[in-house]
Amino acid sequence: MSSPRAGTFIATKEHRRFIEFAEAVRKHRYVGLCYGAAGVGKTLSARRYANWDLASPFIENRNSRRGFMRKKILEALERSRTVFHTPTVMGTLRDLKETLVDHIGTVDDCINDHLNRHVRWDYRKSDLHVEMLIFDEAERLSVTCLEFIRDIFDRRGVGVILIGMPGMEKRLSRYPQLYSRVGFAHHYRPLQGDELSFVLTRHWRKLGLTLDELDFTDTQAIASIARITGGNFRLLHRLFVQIERIMKINGLTVITDDVVEAARTTLVIGTT
Ligand SMILES: Nc1ncnc2c1ncn2[C@@H]1O[C@H](COP(=O)(O)OP(=O)(O)O)[C@@H](O)[C@H]1O
Ligand SMILES: [Mg+2]
Repeated sequence: MSSPRAGTFIATKEHRRFIEFAEAVRKHRYVGLCYGAAGVGKTLSARRYANWDLASPFIENRNSRRGFMRKKILEALERSRTVFHTPTVMGTLRDLKETLVDHIGTVDDCINDHLNRHVRWDYRKSDLHVEMLIFDEAERLSVTCLEFIRDIFDRRGVGVILIGMPGMEKRLSRYPQLYSRVGFAHHYRPLQGDELSFVLTRHWRKLGLTLDELDFTDTQAIASIARITGGNFRLLHRLFVQIERIMKINGLTVITDDVVEAARTTLVIGTT
């Protein structure tokens, strides 16, 4: 993503755990649930697994399918064999059906094109290649939408991942048709310990500072940031935007506990 809100992607331990989870769901063709607090990185991990940032403009807009990235995109889709979908708020079954059927068909076609790239047009076979569907913001799915997804799951034999907030499992357990097909539940956790320090070091560096764990001021600031954000990526990001602003306004060169505290008061925390 190239929005100002997105920085460099960090391949965290949680991201690797997500990949393992996704591979298992895809291999065994189960329904997998992935739940975790808002802002910990679920969407980013899933989009990355599906190569969706690369592929989605290509999938969603037919006019862009002839671009110079074509080969790279087809290769990526052939590797992931996944369709990523974010249901719209209050979306109807018809919306879901139209979009999903279209995207699955397109990805199948793309993979077919790629696998048959050395075969003459009239000898080309077409097959079904999509092996997994990932639904982000799964709590937006109505019962009829879930039912439709279960039907695709049964008929196509794909793996399905539903991503949502903690508590999603409980809601789904009320629909035994789908719930009985759940093979894995995966808890996506916030950053912890060394990894949090690693990400903080990067933030420090972005401000042109170095983080010294033997420096008491730094250690204290780290402890406060860890406490305030709970290792949540999105909160970290927002907090650092404020830290940067406060340091600039006051001409400061060290992140002290006071700076962190001042930044915290400008945030609306508890957004999870
Ligand atoms: N692996 C990561 N590397 C870098 N930044 C990340 C990473 N994961 C999440 N973020 C940051 O946190 C924000 C929230 O991530 P997101 O995937 O939308 O969380 P969720 O879907 O769990 O609510 C992203 O916009 C990004 O700024
Ligand atoms: Mg998300």
